[in-house]
Formats: sequence, structure tokens, C-alpha cells
Amino acid sequence: MNDLSALPADFAWGVATAAYQIEGAVAQDGRAPSIWDTFSHIPGNVAGNDTGDVACDHYHRVPEDIALIKEVGAGAYRFSLAWPRIVPGGDGPVNQAGLDFYDRLVDGLLDAGITPFATLYHWDLPQALQDRGGWPVRETAEHFAAYTSVVVERLGDRVKDWATLNEPLCSAWIGHLEGTMAPGLTDLTAAVRASYHLHLGHGLAVQAIRAASPDARVGIVNNLSPVEAATDREADRAAAMRGDGHTNRWWLDPILGRGYPQDMVDLYGVELPVRPGDMEIIAAPLDWLGVNYYFRQVVTADATGPVPHAKQVYLPGSRHTHMDWEVHAEGLEQLLLRLTEEYGVQRIYVTENGSAYQDVVLADGSVHDPERTRYLEEHLAACARAVRKGAPLAGYFAWSLLDNFEWAYGYDKRFGLVHVDYPTQRRTVKSSGRRYAELIREAAEGR
Ligand code: NOJ
Repeated sequence: MNDLSALPADFAWGVATAAYQIEGAVAQDGRAPSIWDTFSHIPGNVAGNDTGDVACDHYHRVPEDIALIKEVGAGAYRFSLAWPRIVPGGDGPVNQAGLDFYDRLVDGLLDAGITPFATLYHWDLPQALQDRGGWPVRETAEHFAAYTSVVVERLGDRVKDWATLNEPLCSAWIGHLEGTMAPGLTDLTAAVRASYHLHLGHGLAVQAIRAASPDARVGIVNNLSPVEAATDREADRAAAMRGDGHTNRWWLDPILGRGYPQDMVDLYGVELPVRPGDMEIIAAPLDWLGVNYYFRQVVTADATGPVPHAKQVYLPGSRHTHMDWEVHAEGLEQLLLRLTEEYGVQRIYVTENGSAYQDVVLADGSVHDPERTRYLEEHLAACARAVRKGAPLAGYFAWSLLDNFEWAYGYDKRFGLVHVDYPTQRRTVKSSGRRYAELIREAAEGR
């Protein structure tokens, strides 16, 4: 049953990608290395020692990929721009050829009637800036704002919807604390400082976007998860509270004007390098909030484990994707309602949602993926329920248009609505992609 009629008539039906995961062409037209080029080329960091060197070769296949966006029925496309293509040194000279690529992409999207949603940073920090300290140092935030000005001055006449950062949690916590993403550090002080400068960079970028394009609509993309205690024990409930702080409140509160949550400041025990005026910059008013949702977290107390001393557990009988992530669509509804009721957010997009499964290409070349289709239907139904209960949800972006480079998991994990055969770069729309087009059509006809 898919009653999506509650979704607004002007709902943005989208698909999403990110530069390093699809573009390839890493040494072309003046692009310099990013931290992900460096990280993925160190043996052992990525499954199969895969890299983004070629990825989906999207850099050379833009017209074909735009046609695929249309084929899966989407009217909006969320992509990211590669900072190391545009300002290869991180700061300093602008590489016009890098900007030209995105200029052509945007024109192609608009010609096809697709609304571009551009993300300015999806994890590919220029390596040159990492060499000067990366996100743990303040200058990186300032360079991010300068790069943002360059981009918005060039594209702001045609792109109206901008996200500053994608999932800063992953940049800070996974990149600097857990160490399984670039730059691969395991240092709590660096991680907390990185989170702070990501927030500052976000706020400075908001100012830069508004200065260059007064009619821009600006947001940020956070990955959020409801965090629940596995039992009623006091210790587990406290762990869930810490987990919520680590995953959700640390990333929402400062940008929404509430400052950093004191319980987490105390838990981390790392002094934030706040200068006068910073917190106002970080809390710059936004036009929308993006939510990437994949799974909920069920946790127990783990006193000896790393912060936030909360360990995720499997619930018996739960369904999991190929990432081992629990399928729990109610969690999306819960999150959307929390943002609405507790945080008073006025406009929300689900900027990513999707699932990895082990797809099989049949003898006739087709890919039939009923589990991904079910995941999609269940999560869209959750969106519709949240809207019925008052959530100001303005759009949904399926992750992802294409199978792509899934970071430390390499190419083994497939999230696409479109299958990519990497040796030939042949694209095949999966049955989930066809179903998405059908759902979008039905939603439009149903009203
Ligand atoms: C979130 C990230 O933004 C994206 O890059 C990643 O591929 C998906 N989640 C799936 O893990």
C-alpha cells in the first residue's frame, strides 16, 4: 500500500550522488588530489583496495547520466562539487576548467527540466589543505568560504538550492576519531576541533552564498538516527542519551542556535576553540535542513569502549541490508517529527535515503531488486505519514542514482537505482529505478 497523496504537489522527487563517488577523472583538467585520493591509495584502507580513480566515469558521461535521472522519474538532482577541481590548492588560484565542468552539468540538468541541488562539500578536502592541518585548523573553514564564493558567483544565477556540508559527522567522527574514512585519524581532540571548524565553515559559507546570490535557498545535510536504549536499564538509557548527543544533538544544536550540548562538551572534555562572534556565524539562519537517513541505533552501555561509550546491538528478528544496517522506516518518520516538533524546523528535505543489496544481473541483462524496492516504498510511506502529522517535508532524494564508490567499502556495496557494470561502464536501470518512476507518476496523478 503506498498512499503518498499527503506529499505536497510541489514535492522535489530526486536522486543524489557525490563527486568523488562517481566522477573519476581524478587527474584531468587541473584537478588536484583530495584526502580521499590519498586515503584510498593506501593499501588496506578500502575494501579490495578500490579507489575513485575511475568510479562511474561520470565526468565523461554527463549526458547519459542526465538521461538516467529522467528515466528514474526524478525532477531534482543532488550532486556535489569537487573542491580540488575548482580550487586545486585549497586556497589560491581558481581552475576554470573545473568550474566549466559543473557549468555544463547544471546547464544540462536545466535543459532536461531537472532542478539542481548542489552540495559544496562531500568529503573531498584538497590534500594541500590537509597538509596544512585540515579541518582541525581554523583556516580550513575560511578557505571553504572562499571556495564557496567562487562557486556561487559562477553558478548562482542557475543553481538556487545549496547545501554547505554533507554529513559533517562522518568527516569529524569517522575521519578523525574512528579513522576508517579520510584522513584516517584516531584522535578525539582533532575530531572535536574538526567538528567545530566544519560548523564554522558551514556558517561562513552560508554568508558567502547569501552575499553572492541573494535569492539562494541554503541548507546543510546531516545524517541522523534515532538512538534507542536496548533495555530499560538506567545504564542503557544513559548510553542512548550519549549516543543521541554524539549522533544528533552535536550536529543540530549549534547550527540551530542552541549552542553545543553541555553534556557532550563535558563528555568529550576537549576545549572548543570558540572566538567571539563564532556561535552567531555557526547559527546563521537557514532555509532548509537536509536529513540523510539510513538506520536507527539501538545501544547498550559500553563503559570501556570509545566515546560515546554506547555499543550498537542487533535486535533479534530485524532485517538488515548488505551494509548490515537495520531496515527501520519508522525511524525516518520519528526523525522528521522530532525536527518539526522539538527543533521547529520549517522546511526539511530527505537529502539521502537508500539501501545496498547484492544485486544479480540476469542472463537478459536486467537487474531485479525487490528488497531495495521495498526499502524505498517503506521509507516513502514513512515520509507521507510524517507529512500527515505536520512535518514540513519538501522533497526526497534517493541514494543513489548509480552504484558507486562506497568509501571504505569500495565498489562492493551497491546503492544505485541504476546498476553499473564497472568494467564496461554499462548502466542498467534496476527494477527499483523503474518503480521509483512509477511511484512519482502515481503521486502526481493521485491528486
Ligand atoms: C551517506 C553519504 O553521504 C554517502 O556518500 C554514502 O554513500 C551513503 N551515505 C551510503 O553510505
